[in-house]
Amino acid sequence: QTEAALAAIVASATLDALEAQRLETLGKKGWVSLALKTLGGMSPEERTAAAPAIQSARAAIAEALDAKKAALEAAELEAALARETIDLTLPAQAASKGSVHPVSQVMDELAEIFADLGFAVATGPEIEDDWHNFTALNMDETHPARAMHDTFYFPDKTVEGKDVLLRTHTSPVQIRSMLDQGAPIRIIAPGRVYRSDSDATHTPMFHQVEGLVIDKDIHLGHLKWTLETFFKAFFEREDITLRLRPSYFPFTEPSVEVDVGYSNEGGRRVVGGHGDAPGHAWMEIGGSGMVNARVLAFAGLDPAEWQGFAFGLGIDRIAMLKYGMNDLRAFFDGDPRWLAHYGFSP
Ligand code: PHE
Repeated sequence: QTEAALAAIVASATLDALEAQRLETLGKKGWVSLALKTLGGMSPEERTAAAPAIQSARAAIAEALDAKKAALEAAELEAALARETIDLTLPAQAASKGSVHPVSQVMDELAEIFADLGFAVATGPEIEDDWHNFTALNMDETHPARAMHDTFYFPDKTVEGKDVLLRTHTSPVQIRSMLDQGAPIRIIAPGRVYRSDSDATHTPMFHQVEGLVIDKDIHLGHLKWTLETFFKAFFEREDITLRLRPSYFPFTEPSVEVDVGYSNEGGRRVVGGHGDAPGHAWMEIGGSGMVNARVLAFAGLDPAEWQGFAFGLGIDRIAMLKYGMNDLRAFFDGDPRWLAHYGFSP
């Protein structure tokens, strides 16, 4: 019987079959276990005579079960390894990489150029309050200029009694900088701004860079030199010409709009040259002026002691000019083919 059991164990082809053999022999109701139990009912003499055979059968069977189990498990592992082999010679799947967005690229570049001119980068919240966005910039509740901003308000929300809105320009950072650090100041503040407006040249979110210089004896000539120097570095051309055109902003006095001379080359606007020269024209690139004395006072500075200039430029617009892009909306579609077309791929 032992020989038969050992043979059956060796012949087991699967772990299940082997388990069946174990139950038949060493299991609770297996014949070896039952035989061992009969020893208890025997006389000492009978037991001495019968025990060795049963004990050695049990040991032999247990040993055979263990050996076969190890062999079957090893075989199963071999089979799994063979089944799951990986072909290391297959080409890897190309992962798509991102690239810097043209707007980010321009923000980095202008921060670098202005850093060379001694400007630090300042920031303010995109969720602004009415006071910083309007009132402190000399636009009280009844000011008509407020209506021109197509402001996104947060309905039913106030902070310390002030309405909450998405900032419509980066100018509130002027106020925050003056209140935070006092004078003198030399900062730029690039960032997102929001207006409820959308067509080929307007998106509800766009980017501006604010500039603010507060010091003593600052005048419009400093403003013109600063912007000219910036545009020469940014467009990498010496023949940049700016024109300051009288304008109106509540927060500057006097106020000027800044135009840059350009020409059309192959359907593309190329910055450079005098706007009145043949084949050239002027293009508006931003607003600016001397900081209004009322704004200085709102921001805690004495207008008798300090004055300065401020400007606001559209970053998306100067990015379009630099890279020859013509649809502002494409900036925010996130289409990698559009980016690649203009050379913005990794
Ligand atoms: N904040 C103005 C705008 O968004 C631009 C500007 C900034 C004008 C600073 C003058 C001075 O239109």
